Amino acid sequence: MKVLVTGGLGFIGSHTCVELLNSGYEVVIVDNLSNSSIDVLEKIEEITSKRPKFYDIDVCDKEEVKKVFRVNKIDAVIHFAGYKAVGESVREPLKYYRNNLDSTLTLLEVMKKENCHNFVFSSSATVYGNPKELPIKEDFPLSTTNPYGTTKLMIERILADLSKADKEMSIIVLRYFNPIGAHKSGLLGENPRGIPNNLMPYIVRVATKELEMLSVFGNDYDTHDGTGVRDYIHVVDLAKGHIKALEKCVRFKGIEYYNLGTGTGYSVLDLVKTFEEVNNVKVPYKIVDRRPGDIDACYADPGKAYEEIGFKAELGIEDMCRESYNYILKNKSD
Ligand code: UFG
Repeated sequence: MKVLVTGGLGFIGSHTCVELLNSGYEVVIVDNLSNSSIDVLEKIEEITSKRPKFYDIDVCDKEEVKKVFRVNKIDAVIHFAGYKAVGESVREPLKYYRNNLDSTLTLLEVMKKENCHNFVFSSSATVYGNPKELPIKEDFPLSTTNPYGTTKLMIERILADLSKADKEMSIIVLRYFNPIGAHKSGLLGENPRGIPNNLMPYIVRVATKELEMLSVFGNDYDTHDGTGVRDYIHVVDLAKGHIKALEKCVRFKGIEYYNLGTGTGYSVLDLVKTFEEVNNVKVPYKIVDRRPGDIDACYADPGKAYEEIGFKAELGIEDMCRESYNYILKNKSD
């Protein structure tokens, strides 16, 4: 079976390509390298001993996407490509709406024309807004607090409408919680350009002394130690969730939604302490004001994904901390 992976050289996309190749799928990657590097392709090959086909194109470019479908007989699409920085989306909403919506619509239009009906979409727990109850189940009310999150929710609505109108379509929407960690080889991981926005990439840069100190955004949240609680999931577990999703996708028609999380919440300080312990390094931090838009706690009820597609995260917070650091030690530019 041949799978088109958009954004396949990105953090989650690259780990998913490895799992796909290791599970015997043929992989075609489309990525415009806007937030990734071509070296990742070599790393995927090094890990799997297979070289996926690669196209350096923008998914908004319909003619180019059509060519990819004409040259390759694509059976299913996993759509990762998209902008993902929450803060930037607040400053440049049009850029986010244009890119994230346009790329998805383009892809879906081409898929329809080329008779490809299997679609797995990268959504986010951000679509649950500030949940009234925890753990979060898939049927909880949806709302968003920033343009990035709104693009995810708008795409979910588009997919729901499409599934009603086109009975041939098989659509799986995956709502990721907080992916961290890296491939255990140290060849793939997350290395954002500039100052990181997210917690783990920031912790790692403090540990390597590239940044002086972590700012912990608030210690007056309604959580066990006052700092924000999230459901961190190892990126390799998350990648494996896509294989389960794909297996389901090809054996049903309609649309389904699954949380991909562990079901366990850790606070900012839990993560810092575990990171320090497993890596035997110091992560100096200071408590600062809350970051606007952040919520107290967010963690998944992973039950539906387990019952319906057999997905269960296996790696723990220690593995996530160890592998995130290992990746940066192997890849930092001195
Ligand atoms: N945090 C800090 N200091 C930092 C960065 C983060 O204290 O320098 C805290 C935040 O306040 C929060 C926790 O660490 O309590 C996690 O923050 P992240 O920025 O790593 O992750 P978020 O939960 O805010 O957001 C992430 C993704 C979004 C996605 C969301 C889904 O960045 O894309 O999870 O819930 F939408």
